[in-house]
Amino acid sequence: MFNLFEIDLEKEKILDMGAGVSSFGIEANKMGFNIINSDKIYNFDIKTLEDKCKADLSLICSKLENVKDKYVWKFFSNIKELKNYHKKTYEIFINDFNHHEYGKYVTETLPQTGFKDNTFSISLVFHLLFMYNSHLDYEFHKQSILELIRITSKEVRIFPLVNLEYKKSSFIEKILSDNDIKAKEIIIEKSPYEFVKGGNEILAIKV
Ligand SMILES: C[S@@+](CC[C@H](N)C(=O)[O-])C[C@H]1O[C@@H](n2cnc3c(N)ncnc32)[C@H](O)[C@@H]1O
Repeated sequence: MFNLFEIDLEKEKILDMGAGVSSFGIEANKMGFNIINSDKIYNFDIKTLEDKCKADLSLICSKLENVKDKYVWKFFSNIKELKNYHKKTYEIFINDFNHHEYGKYVTETLPQTGFKDNTFSISLVFHLLFMYNSHLDYEFHKQSILELIRITSKEVRIFPLVNLEYKKSSFIEKILSDNDIKAKEIIIEKSPYEFVKGGNEILAIKV
């Protein structure tokens, strides 16, 4: 998703903001990387999380049937495969969250965190900013990006840039021309991963 192939990740301290019940940080840490997962849901108890994972996955899969044509069925061949994959993912998460074996969990949230300046070298946000642009307004996005810049020393990467209406978020253009957002470079990069049609772009902010 993040096109991280050219970055020597072993040397980086990486924040996964809004990491949720994904297994990315757990699996990467197991391989020797240094990923910190941040999400408000880490305040919840394990039973609540597990019940919510099950209910959310069933709901999402039932809704997908009617909008199948909005997705690229390449990484996942069909809804059944997607459901099995995500079930496996949340099981990895629940199991690790139970023991805190590989995952490093914190409960900081956007748009304001308690992290010190430059705590991380790379910050990643996936499936949170831009996606929910009808629930989270432009000011939330702007303050979140300013905060991510403050706590990151090299690069912030946000994926994807499409919203829940399957359209590129109108906030992208506003961010690109917002004079308050100061960075060395802000570019849109292609991602090799595309599930939502058109959702194959990353906003890369070189701090
Ligand atoms: C759609 S999920 C994405 C989870 C994960 N990044 C993934 O792609 O599988 C969005 C996540 O953002 C978290 N979230 C919502 N508001 C947030 C905020 N203000 N700051 C940080 N995380 C937030 C939610 O709790 C949820 O886990």
